[in-house]
Amino acid sequence: MAKESFTVTPWEVKGDIDYDKLIKKFGVQRISNKELEMLDRLAPLHLFLRRGMFFAHRDLNVVLKEHEKGKKVVLYTGRGPSGHTHLGHIVPWIFTRWLQKAFKAKLYFQMTDDEKFLVKDLALNKTKNYAKENALDLIALGFEPKDTKIIYDTEHIDELYPFALKIAKRTTFSIAKAVFGFNNSTNIGLSFFPALQAAVAFYAQEREGGKDVQCLIPCAIDQDPYWRIARDAAPYLGYPKTATILSKFLPGLSGPAGKMSATDEANAIYTTDLPEVARKKIMKAFTGGQATVEEQRKKGGNPDLCTVCQWLYLLFEDDDKVMQQRLEDYRAGKILDGENKKYLADKVVAFLEEHQKKREKARDVLDKFSLTS
Ligand code: TYM
Repeated sequence: MAKESFTVTPWEVKGDIDYDKLIKKFGVQRISNKELEMLDRLAPLHLFLRRGMFFAHRDLNVVLKEHEKGKKVVLYTGRGPSGHTHLGHIVPWIFTRWLQKAFKAKLYFQMTDDEKFLVKDLALNKTKNYAKENALDLIALGFEPKDTKIIYDTEHIDELYPFALKIAKRTTFSIAKAVFGFNNSTNIGLSFFPALQAAVAFYAQEREGGKDVQCLIPCAIDQDPYWRIARDAAPYLGYPKTATILSKFLPGLSGPAGKMSATDEANAIYTTDLPEVARKKIMKAFTGGQATVEEQRKKGGNPDLCTVCQWLYLLFEDDDKVMQQRLEDYRAGKILDGENKKYLADKVVAFLEEHQKKREKARDVLDKFSLTS
């Protein structure tokens, strides 16, 4: 069989991702019109659903049907802190806030301050510190302490451990190897870790009323391997299978392949970037334009290759008519790259200025969001 030209694992995303292939490879479902209609009945569809950013799922149909019959839903998502938050990370969080309102659901948010310590060359006090910094970004997106609990693995391990143990007992090393690609040089901390990330799904269900509550996880598709472990263990623990709603990746600024990576500073925009630094990064972004202005006016640009168009389409231009027109004009050579970049940069700068104010205010309420507050 030909080798895939892309890689998607919880710790590595690279190459030109073929999402159709990925759906088949992971065995997830594409979100259908039926699910979109059901979601639309709960709240007007979010941009991420209208534009296909959230595109796949496991058992979303089950959650929606059960919810229509009156079953309670609990949401679960998270972050593996290894640095400051970038704009890709907040994609699932923005969507989670929308889901939270739509389902009137509580959110459990896991900060795996152990995970990146195990995976990367990072000190534990660094990952713990980033966990608190990243939490400010979550709070700045509008979550309320009364319906949002943040779990810090290293602080709240006693709450998760009984659930993690039960999952770990049901997960053989050969399954973990097949799902995560573990090998003989994988440290034993990491080989246990998936049980801890899966544990929160059941923990959240238990806290919100027990075995009847449905857990729905919004995240990008790189996290899917964890949910295979959770879903395999669910019947043994007596819970409904963990459901997910999965997004594509916001591409980095240097090209549409792969995802925005936290390890490539110029490729990513962080929520902590000074607005003018962010503007400069955007002005250097990879576009779908031609070599010269004359050529672009004549031949037009290719929005599919253009990270600036992609960022507008996937995140920053909410108005469908305006977006459609901009794409047409870009293709027709009526919009040049310089002005397109400026259009995006203005939006990103406005977002950052607002977000950074809210982020600073969030410091005062950070403790209220902690699981044990
Ligand atoms: P982490 O910190 O790698 O990523 C946090 C969340 O952001 C998503 N993500 C992206 N989404 C869109 N575009 C991108 N470029 C992009 N890059 C990352 C990830 O899918 C994730 O949803 N192990 C997890 C932490 C975790 C978690 C969870 C995540 C613990 N429990 C439950 C989701 C759901 C991690 O390291 O995420």
